[in-house]
Amino acid sequence: MPDNDSIDPTEVARPSSSRRDPEWLRARLDDWLPTVTGSPATITRLEIPSANGMSSETIVLDAAWEDTDHRLVVRVAPTPDSDPVFPTYDLDRQFRLIEHVASTTDVPLPTLYWSEPDPRPLGAPFFLMGRVDGVIPPDVMPYTFGSWLTEVSDDDRRTVAGTTIETLAMIHSAPVPEELLDLPGPGETPLRAHVRRLREFYAWASQGRAGSPLIERGFSWVDEHLPVESDPVLTWGDARIGNIIYQDLSPVAILDWEMAAHGPRELDVAWLIFLHRFFQDLAEMAGLPGLPEFLRRDDVADAYARSSGHEPRDLDFYITYAALIHAVVMYRIQSRAIHFGQAEEPVDTDDMILHRATLEAMLAGAYWAGVR
Ligand SMILES: Nc1ncnc2c1ncn2[C@@H]1O[C@H](COP(=O)(O)OP(=O)(O)O)[C@@H](O)[C@H]1O
Ligand SMILES: [Mg+2]
Repeated sequence: MPDNDSIDPTEVARPSSSRRDPEWLRARLDDWLPTVTGSPATITRLEIPSANGMSSETIVLDAAWEDTDHRLVVRVAPTPDSDPVFPTYDLDRQFRLIEHVASTTDVPLPTLYWSEPDPRPLGAPFFLMGRVDGVIPPDVMPYTFGSWLTEVSDDDRRTVAGTTIETLAMIHSAPVPEELLDLPGPGETPLRAHVRRLREFYAWASQGRAGSPLIERGFSWVDEHLPVESDPVLTWGDARIGNIIYQDLSPVAILDWEMAAHGPRELDVAWLIFLHRFFQDLAEMAGLPGLPEFLRRDDVADAYARSSGHEPRDLDFYITYAALIHAVVMYRIQSRAIHFGQAEEPVDTDDMILHRATLEAMLAGAYWAGVR
């Protein structure tokens, strides 16, 4: 729906400057592995793939110890000198959250090996998990431009949507691990605390640089439209299909827990809907059909209600809030790309937000009328 033909989705590809050196990593992991395996270990493969995501580092690792081969993924926290996307990063907490969900629900998750909160071995905390086979809807080029997901049948895509939403409902059935989440301050609701943290993140991201009037308008809109909240749950946070590994049209691993939070379930339901709209709008801007029938707002809400027994409420608010969260993250990522000389500062800072037209239309209450 937005009209902007100057958008290049590869612009938001991860800046490469924070990548680590594979040989250095191999040497360090060679030293570290026996400290946890308790026996000699051999690394047989180490690769840094170019994959979805851009806030942490993902390393593919094959290693053998005690006569067994292990196919692993190492997730490494960003180092402060990489000018990270987020100001603080608690990777050990992500590990413990995954452990919590794994032990209290049937949500499919990678097998967890070890978390190393000590930054000394690799220069930043990291954890090891089992590598899961399967397919992920790509971000670059967006899955809506042509991918396994556009190639399967409509029925198969309905299956993907259904199994995804069932899994989301399962995540929300986990007991809330209060000790692992930022809880609201006195007199604050979970949603207000969520908005406050986003505001703090934006204040940090825009420090010493031109802010985005659109984002600031978005915050005012959110303040004026805060709904009555449903009971808080453990929200996954980055609840989108690009963070799911699928096999046979069903999730086999839910990845990327860095945005997990304590808040209304609608945060995740709306993020799932919004991120598909984001990639769908990109496809339409590029003159492609995309997947207009996939993860439609009302279908997602109905399927979620069936799977969880909770009818999502106030989705207008939550989807607009999702667009605002995404705008702040995008503003931060673009600022970082400018810092690394990979992008030019636009004259109009709102142009740092790839989906500015979508957010503008949502704030004006005009977005959904333009959705086919
Ligand atoms: N356990 C795993 N098994 C297989 N691939 C993985 C696993 N964890 C991460 N990956 C790969 O790494 C990519 C990025 O992982 P993700 O957890 O989404 O991190 P981020 O988006 O924060 O960089 C995924 O898209 C996937 O390709
Ligand atoms: Mg990811």
